[in-house]
Order: sequence, then C-alpha cells, then structure tokens
Amino acid sequence: MSTPPGTDARTHADAASGALTRETIARVDSTGQLDDVLALPEHLRDAAWRVESAIMQGWDTSAGLVVAGMGGSAIGGALARAALGDHASRPIFVTRAYGLPPWTTPDTMVLCASYSGDTEETLACYESAGALGAQRVVVTTGGRLAEMARADGVPVIPLPGGFQPRAAVAYMTVAALEVAALCGAGPRLTSEIDVAASHTEQLVAEWGPDAGEDSLAKTVARGLLGTIPVVVGAGLTTPVAYRWKTQINENSKLPCFTHELPELDHNELVGWEGAREAGRFAAVFLDDSDAHPRVKERMALTERLIAPNAAASFHLETRGQTTIERVISLVLLGDLVSIYLATLRGVDPGPVKAIDELKAALEQR
Ligand code: F6R
Repeated sequence: MSTPPGTDARTHADAASGALTRETIARVDSTGQLDDVLALPEHLRDAAWRVESAIMQGWDTSAGLVVAGMGGSAIGGALARAALGDHASRPIFVTRAYGLPPWTTPDTMVLCASYSGDTEETLACYESAGALGAQRVVVTTGGRLAEMARADGVPVIPLPGGFQPRAAVAYMTVAALEVAALCGAGPRLTSEIDVAASHTEQLVAEWGPDAGEDSLAKTVARGLLGTIPVVVGAGLTTPVAYRWKTQINENSKLPCFTHELPELDHNELVGWEGAREAGRFAAVFLDDSDAHPRVKERMALTERLIAPNAAASFHLETRGQTTIERVISLVLLGDLVSIYLATLRGVDPGPVKAIDELKAALEQR
C-alpha cells in the first residue's frame, strides 16, 4: 500500500513533539545505552588507570603506531590521532581490514583493539603483526584475542564487560593515546585526559536527558528526524563526523553518511543540487574553534550553498580548550543525538541484529 502524501511528515512532526526524558528514553532503551553515554567522563578516567596498571614498560618504535580494529573498536584510534594532531611525532595509522599496512616492520607498534576479542579482521592483524615481528599490545574484554595475547606474552589492556563495543569509545580512545605515548608516537596526555573528563561532565549536564527540551542535543535530534543525515567534518572533527555516522546507523537504525572539508567542496557540493529530488537529506557541519581559517570560511560558505537543498542544516562547534576536550565534546553530542533520535523513532538503540546475523553467517563459511 502506498503512503498518502504528507503522512510521513505528519508522523515525524508528532514524534518530534514528544518529550525526551529519562522515562521516555527508557521505554525504548532496553539495554541502558543512554547510561553508557552519560558515563563517558568516568570511562575516560577508568581507562587511563587501566592502561597504567596493564603496561609497565615503554617501547621506542621508530616506525610509529598502527591501531588495528573494526567499527566501534577502531574509532578510538582515529579519535586519538585527531586529538594528538600536530603533537604526533611518528606516523599513527588506523587499519580497518584483514591486514596491516605494507610498511609494518619489527619497529612498528601494533595495537589490536577489539571489544569482544573475537573480530576476525582484528585477529588476522594480530597474527600478521606477530609474523612480521612487530611489537604488539591488545585492548579487549577477552575472547580469542586475549587468549592468544596471554599465550604469547603480549600485554593486554583489560576492558570492563557488559557494553556494546561502540559504547567503549572512551576506553578505546584513551588506550590508543596512552599506547602512542608509550611507543614514542606522541606526548603523555594523562593529566589532559583527567581534565577532559571533568569538562565532559559539564557537557553531560548541558546536553543530557535532564536538560531542557530546547537543549542542543535534543534540538538537533528533532531536526534530523525524518531525514538522511550527512555529517561533515574537517581536520580534527573528521573522525568525529564518522563517529556520528556510525552511532546514527547503529543506535538510531538509520542511513547516515559523512564527508570532509575541504574535499567536499570539490565534488559533493554539486551533488546537493539534486538532493531534494532524491530524498530528505540534512546537513550537519562539525566545526572546531581551532580549524584552519580557510576551512572555517569554506564551512560557512558550503553551508550557505547546501542549506537551500537540505531538509535541515546544523552548524555545531567543538567545546573546550585542549584537543581531547574538543574531540570528546562532539563525540558526546553525537552519541546523545543518536539515542534521542532512536527514542523519537521508537527504536531500541541497543541491539545490532544485522551485524550479529552477518557475523554468525560468516562463521558458517
Ligand atoms: C557494535 C559495534 C561494532 C563492533 C564491530 C567490531 O556495538 O559498534 O561496530 O565494534 O563489529 O567488534 P569488536 O568491537 O568486538 O571487535
């Protein structure tokens, strides 16, 4: 049966007018994903402590750091690299694949990140790193990865169980930051992580479920309802935009896409001309107070050109002083938006049935 014109828009308008409170969220959030997002500051502190107690020695790997992982476990490496920015003194590379970059040598540190410890791509990277004689560290809750690491005498950074892997983002980010410092790829940022945790606590109060219905996270979620969001990052916010995309995919159960500036201005900008014919696309620009001045100009101009063809458009800016504070600020905002959007849609943010089915089907092959 076809839907009468306008019905979807009316349904979305009804849903968008609903309150976003702990109670309304709890009605859909069967596994407490909201609580895990609100606990981000605690996760930052706990993670720093866990790395410190798991790894006693430092290594000097002049070829840099490779973070090997997939999905919610890989994003920490990308966010850590963004947070280190200009302070990275050696290459830091994130691989989301079955293999390591061809330049991996015994002088490379390979951090294998898998929340479950059973992700086949990450297990393959762990084995390749061993075969190449690279220095290895593992961050996981257990699984095959922990078993192999323990048998090989490879240090294991242990994570607390009971989360969806994507909810362990702060743990994965801090693990990558600390391992980068231990192998000489970046400075030690332990005290900055602690300061970022306190800063994030303030933002939790400002954007969390107890904040007003007109607070930023709730407003953005309402604006994205009924749209296909396209999240645009630049520099420091590029991996944050990707985090938004994956959280909207997995928590809100929606298609969502991402691109970055300045590259977007050389292709996707034109595609937006046909956006209204193709669907209801919304643009979300993730700006940073310290972005390159020309990138800032571009973001403002790009938004002006795209907005007439978008169902909604948002220009959001990082909050905080240090790069870690700024990266985490927009990660928190995106995570909250994805849970609020799930609530407005009446879907449970926790389960990722399609991913589970796919992994089970692959195991049969
Ligand atoms: C699930 C999620 C996924 C997983 C990915 C890899 O919450 O976010 O993207 O992170 O399938 O699994 P792990 O993290 O267990 O290695």
